Amino acid sequence: MPTLEERVAGLETAVTALAETLKAGQEQLAGAVELLKDLVSTLSPLADSVRTLADAQGQLISVVRTLAEADWAHAWKEHFKPHRVGPFVITPPWAALPAPADGLPVVIDPGLAFGTGLHPTTQLCLELAAELVRPGETVLDLGTGSGILAIAAARLGAGQVLALDIDPLAVKAARANVRRNRLSRQVKVVRGTLKGPTGPFGLILANLSAPVLTELAPAIAASLASGGRLVASGLLVGRADDLERLYAGLGLESLDRRTSGDWAALVLGRGQG
Ligand SMILES: C[S@@+](CC[C@H](N)C(=O)[O-])C[C@H]1O[C@@H](n2cnc3c(N)ncnc32)[C@H](O)[C@@H]1O
Repeated sequence: MPTLEERVAGLETAVTALAETLKAGQEQLAGAVELLKDLVSTLSPLADSVRTLADAQGQLISVVRTLAEADWAHAWKEHFKPHRVGPFVITPPWAALPAPADGLPVVIDPGLAFGTGLHPTTQLCLELAAELVRPGETVLDLGTGSGILAIAAARLGAGQVLALDIDPLAVKAARANVRRNRLSRQVKVVRGTLKGPTGPFGLILANLSAPVLTELAPAIAASLASGGRLVASGLLVGRADDLERLYAGLGLESLDRRTSGDWAALVLGRGQG
């Protein structure tokens, strides 16, 4: 049996061993902490580099995108030169030569909107407007785009012309073109669509698309004055019969149909009454 002194001595040895173990653990822990610090200080510049690379890549992508958009936005300008459609001479404002004197001038910068006068549906509408606009009558240009049909109608002697479009870029372009053609007193450009009976209008020019002409049919028909005419275009020839039937059901008779390639324009009329 160990004596009390021997037990105390054993306990002291055990406490000393424990203290040494703890100290060694503490030192290992401190070493690990130092290692971690080193790791963090090596990784942070690396993370900064990765971040810088990602930023640079983002900037590169946005530069490429801007260049591509700028190219797309301006490439068509090369093909947009003064041209005649019916009685109109359509000229971009940057054309080097003045418009010929023997035509109705329509100066158009479409910006990002539809309506240079080069598309068959616009041309069908311009030719029909030249036959249909009566001096002084009220005209609605539904889906005005660049404002080309509204400006053409005013040039033909229409009274007031309301030009509607849901696209803010089209509204901006159309307003600028109306000012450019000095027609701000006759042509009002408004952002929006036809929601119900409006006007009534003696002539509605609607170069839209078959689905939109279908959706807006009740509002269009209700906005046509008695004796008024509707030019409905932007549709493929194959959709013409359906649309004529739809508008017949709303009281509009078919007066004429013109085509250019695959495209059609319908002239529909509301009888006097
Ligand atoms: C084919 S472009 C016609 C542009 C111009 N009127 C022309 O003849 O060249 C059709 C235009 O109708 C607009 N549009 C489409 N849906 C419409 C809607 N529900 N109400 C008014 N405008 C609409 C488009 O934003 C576009 O500017």
